[in-house]
Formats: sequence, C-alpha cells, structure tokens
Amino acid sequence: MSSSKSVDREAPVQGALVIHPDREGRDAGRQPEARLEEAIGLALALDLEVREALVAPLRKLTPATLFGRGKVDEIASLVEIEGLDVVVVDDALTPVQQRNLEKAWKAKVIDRTGLILEIFARRARTREGRLQVELARLTYERSRLVRTWTHLERQRGGFGVMGGPGETQIETDRRLIAEKIGKLKRELTEVRRTRTLQRSARRRVPFPSVALVGYTNAGKSTLFNRLTRAEVLAQDMLFATLDPTLRSLKLPDGRAAILSDTVGFISDLPHELVEAFRATLEEVREADVVLHVRDIASEESLAQAKDVREVLARLGLDMDERRIIEVWNKLDLLPEDDRDAVLGDARRAHPPAIPVSAVTGEGTDALLSVIAGLVDEAPPIAIRIPAGEGAAIAWLYQHGRVLERETEDDGGVRMSVSLTAQAQGQFEQQFPQALVGDL
Ligand code: GTP
Repeated sequence: MSSSKSVDREAPVQGALVIHPDREGRDAGRQPEARLEEAIGLALALDLEVREALVAPLRKLTPATLFGRGKVDEIASLVEIEGLDVVVVDDALTPVQQRNLEKAWKAKVIDRTGLILEIFARRARTREGRLQVELARLTYERSRLVRTWTHLERQRGGFGVMGGPGETQIETDRRLIAEKIGKLKRELTEVRRTRTLQRSARRRVPFPSVALVGYTNAGKSTLFNRLTRAEVLAQDMLFATLDPTLRSLKLPDGRAAILSDTVGFISDLPHELVEAFRATLEEVREADVVLHVRDIASEESLAQAKDVREVLARLGLDMDERRIIEVWNKLDLLPEDDRDAVLGDARRAHPPAIPVSAVTGEGTDALLSVIAGLVDEAPPIAIRIPAGEGAAIAWLYQHGRVLERETEDDGGVRMSVSLTAQAQGQFEQQFPQALVGDL
C-alpha cells in the first residue's frame, strides 16, 4: 500500500525528543505513560525519528519556560549529547515559552497544537480539508507572531517590495497573514456552498447514511475498507483520515447505504482545530446511524471513548443515543481469557455493542444486520403544524426523528420527520389539526 511517507523520503531525518509534561490531576483516568505513547505516535506520524521520550512531572508552573530551571537544563544537555533537532512538548506552549525553550535547548520546539496542525496538513485529502487546516495553521501562526514579536520588532527598511518604507517586519507579516486568511475564508465559503448543494442532492436519493467515528487508530479506515471493500489509506499512523470519504455499502437485504469515514479523534483537541472538525463532521451530524469504533484491545479504550463523546458534545453533535452503536474492534488482539468477558460486556451494554475484527472480518456480518435493522425506518414524511401547537412538535421529537424544521411567516412549522407507520397513525389521531403527507 502506498504511504505518504514516500513523499518525504528526500527530507533529512530529524532526531526528536518527546516530552509529556505531567500536570498533576489533569489526566484523570489516563496514565501519563499512555499520553506519552500517544504523543510519540503523533511525532512518528510526522516522520520524526523519536530517539528519546520522557514524562516530566510538573509540580509548579514556571511561566517563562513551563518547566523549572533544573528540568530545562537537564533537557538541554540531553539534546546536546544526543544531537537532537526537535523537541516535541505534548502540551500547549505560549509563544514566549516556545521561544525561550528553543533558545535554551538550541533545537526546534513544537507544541501539541503545532504538531497536530502539521499532521492534519499532511493528511488532508480534499480541497476543503486542506483549506480548513491551512486556515487553522495561519490563525495559530498569527497568534504566535503577535505575541512573540512585540518586543523584538525589527525594522525592515530597504526592501520596498513587501511593505512601505519603515514598515516593520511584524506589520508586514501580520498584513500578509491577514490577507491570506481573508482569501482562504472566501475560498472555503465557496467550497462549502458546493458541498452543501451536493449533499442536498444526495439527500433526495433515499439512501440511508452511516458514519464512522472513533479515536485515532481505532480502526475506522480498516473497517471502512472491510465493509465497502474499498482501498482507502489505512496504516498504523495517526490521522490517516482527515476528510470524510464516502462509499456505498451493501446491506444484507440488498439495499444500499452510504458509509462515511471521518477524522480520527484525539484528546485535548487544540481549539484551532475545532472548526476544522466541525465542517468535517457534518456528515456525522446528518447520518442515520453513527458507528463509534473503539479499539477494545487498548488499555486506554475507556478513556478514548470518553474523549470521543466529549469532542462530539463540544461540537454540538448531541446525538440521539439510539443512533450510536459502539463497534468494539480488534477482537482478534484479545487474549482468549479476556475475550469471553468482553463479549459478555458487549451483550450487556445499552444498546448492545458489536464486537468485530476489521482485520479478520469476524463480526462484520452481524454489524451489517444491525445497521440494516436501524435504517429500517419509513422514509421521511412532510408535516405542517399550525402556529401554537407546540405539543405536536414536541411529540414528533419524542416519537420520530426530525430531519428538517422550518418556521413559516404565520408561525406555522413545516417539518420533515421519519416515523414508523404506527407512530404516524398515533400522531394523526392525536393531532388532527396537523397536515400530514405531501405539502
Ligand atoms: P485514524 O485515521 O488515525 O483515525 O485511524 P483509523 O481509526 O482509521 O485506524 P486504521 O484503520 O488506520 O487502523 C489503525 C491500525 O490498526 C492499522 O495498523 C490497522 O491495521 C490496525 N487494525 C485495525 N483494525 C484492526 C483489527 O481488527 N485487528 C487488528 N489486529 N488490527 C487492526
């Protein structure tokens, strides 16, 4: 399988040290070593050669350098002895801290946000994805620029092309970044408009849609390939998927559904990237069924699942519980003893989780049947509710799935709702004043 690594084969290898600052009490439920492992995974995804990695306990904060004097010196000698080029600090650094540390360690310093931005930039596959990441990156750079350079402004003088005479470097850079940001935003608006059009065209076709979400490396792309037999970049690398990829999925009863693969989630998502996620996850918001893929063989499985739910909530994707199915992946990696316990837990979960192995294919038939059962809803019907009938609206939210809702000038509400035949009968009886059917 082709790997994006080949692109960078020419680039010199950069030796890196990865540090996870362990702030006491921050990572409830998560081991600092596991956090360090994750950070190493991120660094490897950037093709850095990780030569050293350590957890650095942070008992009190030192504003100028994050770490205390002793730690800073200790790391400086490590960097020198090992001849390292890059130090990855798995935390958010202020621009000042970043500069101070670069000076002290004589190496390039990347913080968690910088790292994730860089990876996202490499993984973005569609034009929209690339624009989103570029925008996030410029926004991040602009904040660095403003705060870092204020006391270091240097006169540009002489180079008349970029700025007027006397314009300082910082002003020029700021202006250029602002121009680029403006241009990117315009392009993004255009790309999104096209995509919305495409999506509403798709919605008219009555295919149910299924979306995959999950912590990075949980096995979404592998499952996606297994279910659709498509070749999407799947590799043991974080963030192999930034953009949702759509493929058709054949259900056991012969019907087709649309399956979308989404970005890998991660804990402590830098806020610069929340926007990029938001647009990417529109497919999830609109999906009929969401499959939350979990790496059940990972010791961090529970903490990761919690992170995924938190990110979804933060993005305003408060999804109806019954639409989310947990898929417990990597069953083949479990030792025989754990396996039975995990299968039991899956059965007892609400709603039951579906244990699978995307690699061996075990459990995927059962998964497809469950999906088929879930998308077995009646096609949406149009309903018009006169003004002042709030109870009817509430009833529909409770008993059906509201796909669209629009308030009209006279206060009446038009809705597109998916209801079972039984629920539709009840509704018509209980709320005869509402108009049901073609409007
Ligand atoms: P991101 O794109 O980073 O979010 O990852 P992803 O969730 O799409 O994971 P991906 O499918 O790329 O899988 C990550 C790694 O786990 C790959 O090395 C897969 O081969 C491996 N993997 C996925 N599913 C299984 C499984 O069922 N069993 C085993 N043993 N390995 C699996």
